Amino acid sequence: LFANASQISATKIPQTMFGISFEEINHSGAGGLWAELVNNRGFEAGGQNTPSNIDPWSIIGDESLLIVSTERASCFDRNEVALRMEVLCDKDGDNICPAGGVGVYNPGFWGMNIEQGNKYKVIFYVRSLNTLDISVSFIGSNGLQTLATANIIEADVSNWTKVEVVLEAKGTDHNSRLQLTTIKKGVIWLDQVSAMPLDTHKGHGFRNDLFNMIADLKPGFIRFPGGSFVEGEWLMNAFRWKETVGPWEERPGHFGDVWKYWTDDGLGYFEYLQLAEDLGSLPVWVFNNGISLNDQVDTSIILPFVQNILDAIEFARGDAASTWGSVRATMGHPETFDLRYVAVGNQDCGKKNYRGNYLKFYTAIKTVYPDIKVISNCDGSSKQLDQPADLYDFHVYTDAKSMFSMAHNFDHTSRSGPKAFVSEYAVTGQDAGKGSLLKALAEAGFLIGLERNSDAVEMASNAPLFVNTNDRRFNADAIVFNSSQRYGTPSYWMQHFFRESNGAILLNSTLQANPSNSLISSAISWQNAKDKKDYLRIKVVNFGSNRVTLKISIDGLEGNIIQETGSAKTILTSSNVKDENSFNQPTKVRSVYKLGNNQ
Ligand code: AHR
Repeated sequence: LFANASQISATKIPQTMFGISFEEINHSGAGGLWAELVNNRGFEAGGQNTPSNIDPWSIIGDESLLIVSTERASCFDRNEVALRMEVLCDKDGDNICPAGGVGVYNPGFWGMNIEQGNKYKVIFYVRSLNTLDISVSFIGSNGLQTLATANIIEADVSNWTKVEVVLEAKGTDHNSRLQLTTIKKGVIWLDQVSAMPLDTHKGHGFRNDLFNMIADLKPGFIRFPGGSFVEGEWLMNAFRWKETVGPWEERPGHFGDVWKYWTDDGLGYFEYLQLAEDLGSLPVWVFNNGISLNDQVDTSIILPFVQNILDAIEFARGDAASTWGSVRATMGHPETFDLRYVAVGNQDCGKKNYRGNYLKFYTAIKTVYPDIKVISNCDGSSKQLDQPADLYDFHVYTDAKSMFSMAHNFDHTSRSGPKAFVSEYAVTGQDAGKGSLLKALAEAGFLIGLERNSDAVEMASNAPLFVNTNDRRFNADAIVFNSSQRYGTPSYWMQHFFRESNGAILLNSTLQANPSNSLISSAISWQNAKDKKDYLRIKVVNFGSNRVTLKISIDGLEGNIIQETGSAKTILTSSNVKDENSFNQPTKVRSVYKLGNNQ
């Protein structure tokens, strides 16, 4: 519809209303959005005590041909472990190497997606007292087909040397591996082996197909990097931003003990900020406040943690001459990042030291950056917070019926205090399956309720966003993927209905139907930036099982409509509410757009 929306009395929905919550869970980042193909590229995942496990690397050749171990022999101070390969066989002599050579291979994250015609940059660091003669290859899942290969000969690598090569694939295999092999006797040390597709979003390292799926949601913000991932089971395994910035080769990586996997931290604090910028979304950084799931820093000694967070904000917002702003600048981003929101921890309210620690962070941040909005973990929807905050976190995981009825949760919330950030909501359990229509319908009802209460709720995001099917830690998720495929669950398609809501006008609408308790609706209008026309969208969820005749009235439209140029209807439905999408039927349940007003 083409209407003169500016004359209608109504409220503006916050520009940040609907966004996404990205957590390093289910291999969302490592082995997911972050396009690095090598898993455990620095051989650090087995720990600092050597010899150590090199999983998921494997050895090509038996112990009569080579001996593989790890040593603290790296040229990088923060990740000292390197691989040592003692090659016993040779091109000729008594112990001849097999034709394919001996060495190591990395299967990536359940297979590397190598596609014909695509180029991949392989980088590794190497040292040897002999001339280096090594083959770098992508090999297909049968272990036989060579998809791409390069032979590297270097006369002098007696000091650690960086080798970089671009391989172009001559075939396609979604379950490939990267291997480094030789047929030359001697000792070779290897470290920081990376393989990245050349074609990532803007060359920033984000897997294109997954980036596009989240960009299509037009998220107003991106919350990162968790979730419980921020906290850690133990503080020693929490996300520490300083260990994730600077040259990728120098990052130590860490074991995320909540979701039980290692991350090389290629997707670090800088990359998250870059991701937000590339999406055109505001970053919402959730930082560790000295509290994990099992241990806590006492408030009396929290100040170094507070300074650490001030440093992080300076990294994002300080000019290129500042201490931490200069680190960002050397990473290729002299301009500041638009960091306006930070959350003090995740689900930590009520823990012994939360309030004390929170107040220290809040005061310090507000003193230096008064404009930054600080988010508390304590729920202020039903009672007044006992701490100053700009926003408060609200998390809800429940069954479908409860989620639908929670559409009215904020109807009576105070409009004067801090606003809600519904930073994690999802239907879980049997109703959700691995992503059912039922889940999407209940969540849609909940979101309509939030939209109608957008004077009390400033932001909302579904969780979790991604799942790699090889490491399903949490059900159900919005986007499902493996090394080469992806699809949106009904919940993902449901979120498309709210794409125009950020910054739109919420119209005063009423719904009449019988029965009405299984229905909820809202009406918004917004101006399309491209054609400068005003549009009206009415959203309705029927959570019941019957066809219903309904009437929706919108205040103030009469006399304001200049011209109706057309209408369209988008429907998300299926014959069974338990229906889900899958790799075989990726669009079994998805929104269908129909021009015209027909039933
Ligand atoms: O979204 C998955 C997890 O659920 C988050 O890590 C945590 O905050 C919540 O309990």
